[in-house]
Amino acid sequence: MPVTVILGTQWGDEGKGKAIDTFAGGYDYVARYNGGNNAGHTIVNEYGTFKIHLVPSGIFYPKAKCLIGGGVVIDPAVLIDEMNSLREAGVKLENRLLISPRSHVIMPYHKVLDGLYEEAKGAGATGTTRRGIGPTYADKFSYNGLRWSDFSDAELFEGKLKLQMDLKNKIISALGGEPLDFETVRDDALRCYAEIKPFVTELFPIVRDGLKARKKFLLEQAMGTCLDPDWGTYPFVTASTTLASAATGGLGIPPREITRVIGVTKAYTTRVGAGPMPTEIQPEAPNTSELDRRAALAFREVGATTGRARRAGWFDAELTRFAVEVNGVARLFLTKLDVLSELDEIKICTGYELDGKRVHYYDIDSYALGRVRPIYKTVRGWKHDIRGIRKYASLPLRAQAYVETIEKLAGAPVGWVTNGPEREAVIVKK
Ligand code: GDP
Ligand code: IMO
Ligand code: MG
Repeated sequence: MPVTVILGTQWGDEGKGKAIDTFAGGYDYVARYNGGNNAGHTIVNEYGTFKIHLVPSGIFYPKAKCLIGGGVVIDPAVLIDEMNSLREAGVKLENRLLISPRSHVIMPYHKVLDGLYEEAKGAGATGTTRRGIGPTYADKFSYNGLRWSDFSDAELFEGKLKLQMDLKNKIISALGGEPLDFETVRDDALRCYAEIKPFVTELFPIVRDGLKARKKFLLEQAMGTCLDPDWGTYPFVTASTTLASAATGGLGIPPREITRVIGVTKAYTTRVGAGPMPTEIQPEAPNTSELDRRAALAFREVGATTGRARRAGWFDAELTRFAVEVNGVARLFLTKLDVLSELDEIKICTGYELDGKRVHYYDIDSYALGRVRPIYKTVRGWKHDIRGIRKYASLPLRAQAYVETIEKLAGAPVGWVTNGPEREAVIVKK
């Protein structure tokens, strides 16, 4: 499959890092196409446990070249830290990590503005990662951004930065923030650029020639389908397009080259930040059932980027079905089945009802989505520790039935099931 896209079908954190790590060994190029260091992709392999924010998750396979495409936004200090921790673990980066000069740079004022906008919005805040993502993309699309290519000409860079800092400091002051010092921002940025510069190179000829030579490309999404600015739960979304249809733009790959889309889906649902989540369990609410409470306990997770607790709930087939349809998902990569092992019963949301009528995810906006009543199907749990099982047929029959219910409801076959964070914990389902 020359060009494969791997994407999340929920609100992020589906286990994309693990999915990429499963497949990357068979690819020549692994490329990140969207987002920035709001992403946190966990990889557990022989090098250790990594929470990767910017470098493509294929970096652990020495033969894979890793591309950071023009659609990605980069915080220079975060990238340098990540590169250093990879080097310390023995991962070679030279001639393997290649960064588009078209990718935009997250500047300190973007992070300050992210925080100030969130605070100004109060209860209506998005719950961003405060990594400056929204303000950096806003600058890109309002022709105010700084790209790596701008750094190569000191005079051009200084002029652009001065103009932006004059503008941004006015906004920062008006919102009650501390204006930033131009010289400090400039010097820090140039110091980082000196370290990153050897990795910045135009990707177009590499990609074009690779496609011609039928080299294999794995395109790695950050975030998830329901955080997409068009098709996600706006305004509780992220600032970059997350869909398969966007994977090729910033990388300069013609869309017709995409041959396969794999949808990573958690066996339950999580979300970080604000916004509607129909199957969310409120463990503290007085009328929460014992089953729901136990599930919330089992589903508990901590965010890989911000360390915030992830909101958790039952699997939402309405959401994943939409993600399958809008992205053209051919196969699902179903993660974290082991987490359900202790539950007596498991609930699956098959659809929504709003004011007594069936509605679909795409029929309604975020505010109505916050009011829907999930319709649940309840199935018996398998009550058996499934970690360590490596064959689909060896899974308890009720676990197999759960997987098969998900594929029927979501409208795409499950190709892989995972039952542990480590590299080996992947079961191929024929
Ligand atoms: P990503 O952002 O989509 O790459 O996902 P994250 O890394 O943010 O979150 C997924 C979490 O689930 C990480 O802590 C993974 O190590 C963990 N994980 C992935 N697959 C499995 C699995 O099958 N079982 C268990 N127990 N954990 C898993
Ligand atoms: P990975 O790639 C989960 C969420 C934030 C917030 C919203 C906007 O690890 O799946 P932003 O900082 O992007 O402006 O925040 O998007 N968000 C994520 N949630 N996983 C992610 O990435 C996310 N990246 C952003 O929590 O709700
Ligand atoms: Mg994550």
